[in-house]
Amino acid sequence: MALSVETLQVSYEVVYSPTQNEKNLCAKMTASAKKLFVKTYGCQMNVYDSERMVEAMQNVGYSLTEDVNDADMILLNTCHIREKAAEKVYSELGRYKTIKQEKPDLKVAVAGCVAQAEGEEIMRRQPLVDMVVGPQSYHRLAELEKTAHEKGRAIDIEFPQDDKFSYLAERSKAKRAPSAFLTVQEGCDKFCAFCVVPYTRGAEVSRPVARILDEARALVERGVCEITLLGQNVNAYHGEGPASREYSLAGLIWELDKIDGLERIRFTTSHPNDMRQDLIEAHANCAKLMPYLHLPVQSGSDRILKRMNRSHTAQSYIELIAKIREARPDMLLSGDFIVGFPEETDADFEATLNLIKQVNYGQAYSFKYSTRPGTPAAERDQLPERIKTERLRRLQDLLSTQQRALQDSMVGRDVSVLFEKSGRFEGQLVGKSEYLHAVHVAAPSENIGKLQAVRIIQSNSNSLTGDLI
Ligand code: 5AD
Ligand code: SF4
Repeated sequence: MALSVETLQVSYEVVYSPTQNEKNLCAKMTASAKKLFVKTYGCQMNVYDSERMVEAMQNVGYSLTEDVNDADMILLNTCHIREKAAEKVYSELGRYKTIKQEKPDLKVAVAGCVAQAEGEEIMRRQPLVDMVVGPQSYHRLAELEKTAHEKGRAIDIEFPQDDKFSYLAERSKAKRAPSAFLTVQEGCDKFCAFCVVPYTRGAEVSRPVARILDEARALVERGVCEITLLGQNVNAYHGEGPASREYSLAGLIWELDKIDGLERIRFTTSHPNDMRQDLIEAHANCAKLMPYLHLPVQSGSDRILKRMNRSHTAQSYIELIAKIREARPDMLLSGDFIVGFPEETDADFEATLNLIKQVNYGQAYSFKYSTRPGTPAAERDQLPERIKTERLRRLQDLLSTQQRALQDSMVGRDVSVLFEKSGRFEGQLVGKSEYLHAVHVAAPSENIGKLQAVRIIQSNSNSLTGDLI
């Protein structure tokens, strides 16, 4: 499924078509000789990383192509979160066999979490791969490409201590789409029993405040007015600030709030246990911080939460949601859910449905449990596929009913829309409301990149329609 990044908020196991920024870079680089084809899988952090890798390769003479047959280098930025996501990479690589036979000089690179998790094994399984580069080594991509040309193969899956982004080229000067991602934190120390992230992305590292502010200002100069701060566990952010003082995510948000021209701030994704009071207060008091919160809970059963090593209970999550809603009554909540985790009984599953009913989600992502090698839950007795399928269907039915009801309740309300691009129909633009709903409006194209007040007049299957006020 090829979806454009603009249609997604938090999404997993998707393949991203080139972002507007990559297209801008592409337009700028068409004169160069060597062509780079990039395919990005997984979360927004991979989208951000791909943009940075494209910029790095641009500096050594590559230009972007959307035609894989035209490429001198193919870069797959991969996701390892569930088995399906990892397998997609191998089937994609298989498709490149004939291209590689016809073009022996073509270099194929696998980056991202599959690279980190499987390392050299990728080259054994698929010998056409020339480069394997883990998520902490992107700053070495150009060097690795050179090595691959000289020696045939190159691999780097080290975990250096430093902020890899500080070694990457400065952000491109090309004009950007109005909404951008900015990675501020990487890795995770939580070790949920199902999750590969602590192994593939390593321990939690926060980028220093000054570097983030520089990058945010540079993005704003290039036309960005909405920034989504990214991190595997972004609300655990604890970066070094001025006078060596440690800044929380709320502290960072208040610094970003001072940047003129930056109109909206978002962050994703968060762990309930790191939802500190100062961040909840920022949601109440910082006008630029949008009323949308992705706060995965995974299960509503305390027994399963314990077996997942989540270190929170269903009740503590519900109390936290109440506190957040007290601070920001119109907060739209989004979550992640896993069904069919080992030992999950019907009663455990009912507890998850119950939690969902209590919270009322406006957006959600749900998955069947998938065994990941090396994680504790992979060693346990597994539930039959048929049970997982049935539970996922029931869970998704409930979530989509909630989502739809919440979206329908927007009709008649006034929202602020950041217009991002033209819509499918002549004279129509598409943008996002503060609640991340996609909104279609008949409006002149000068509004792209601007925030406008819009009255919602209709709720469609996956979007809203409104009129400029
Ligand atoms: N199986 C199914 N879903 C998973 N997730 C993470 N690991 C697994 C797994 N092994 C889901 C969680 C997480 C989201 C990024 O992916 O819900 O929040
Ligand atoms: Fe994975 Fe998120 Fe748990 Fe970290 S907090 S281990 S990233 S699910």
